[in-house]
Amino acid sequence: MSPLDFSVEELDELLDLASDIEKSPEKYAHVCDDKRLATLFYEPSTRTRLSFEAAMMNLGGKVLGFSSADSSSAAKGESVADTIRVVSCYADICAMRHPKEGAPMVAAMHSRIPVINAGDGGHQHPTQTLTDLLTIRSLKGHFDNLTIGLCGDLKFGRTVHSLIEALVRYPNVRFVLISPEELRIPSYIRESVLEKSGCPYKEMERLEDAIPELDILYMTRVQRERFFNEEDYVRMKDFYVLDKVKLSLAKEDMQILHPLPRVNEIAVEVDNDPRAAYFKQAQYGVYVRMALILTLLEVKLPWR
Ligand code: NCD
Repeated sequence: MSPLDFSVEELDELLDLASDIEKSPEKYAHVCDDKRLATLFYEPSTRTRLSFEAAMMNLGGKVLGFSSADSSSAAKGESVADTIRVVSCYADICAMRHPKEGAPMVAAMHSRIPVINAGDGGHQHPTQTLTDLLTIRSLKGHFDNLTIGLCGDLKFGRTVHSLIEALVRYPNVRFVLISPEELRIPSYIRESVLEKSGCPYKEMERLEDAIPELDILYMTRVQRERFFNEEDYVRMKDFYVLDKVKLSLAKEDMQILHPLPRVNEIAVEVDNDPRAAYFKQAQYGVYVRMALILTLLEVKLPWR
């Protein structure tokens, strides 16, 4: 699934459901009592896998799966297509993270159960986008008329690619893309998403210059695992560090998001600032994944 698998109206419904779950989690505690989620993670993850598992458990369901390719039959050479055929016999829904772009899409073509893309290489991370959308909507109340700064590794950062695709569909959203020259947004996003939609954007290198006009600052880490050599990574890794001094240039109501994990790009001194929203964002990730599981399993909620 990609953010664009849902229309704007369907996305609104999903986010409404997530907000209702946030308000009254007890209503949802047993709605998936007879359901199982498989988490097939061929790449490391903390938040995404655990938030999927927590989401299913909060709904009363059960979880099974693996958290690294080494501990699955992939290590013996099994294809994703074969693995998913088998997992379809054991679970009702599955979340898959894979280092190869497109692997969850291949799985979905061979699966009898819904397959959720939990991150595929440097390509997309749609459920992080749902998390980001719920966070922005909960903290700002709307998506339109926002200036959104995306800062860091815009080349390999898959969360940024999915988020842009989702947000260009709202009126008067503007992007400020803040990155070093070598980590600029890929041309397919620039051409097929930003330019095609007519969404205004500009590219900048200095965070200090960009920060005063932002309503949302979305920080990302430099994606070490996707670099071809360590020297380039070392040169780039501390390019941006958001600290109190830079934050003093920002609007009073700007919100700071980060998909996490954080490395050095946000100084720990920023964590206590009321604008730091990244740990709240991780909590929203559970609500939105609960809503996604309910939607894809078409669970009937008696009160809706
Ligand atoms: C992101 C990812 O895996 O792409 N993490 C996450 O899912 N929250 C961001 C990252 O790893 O930098």
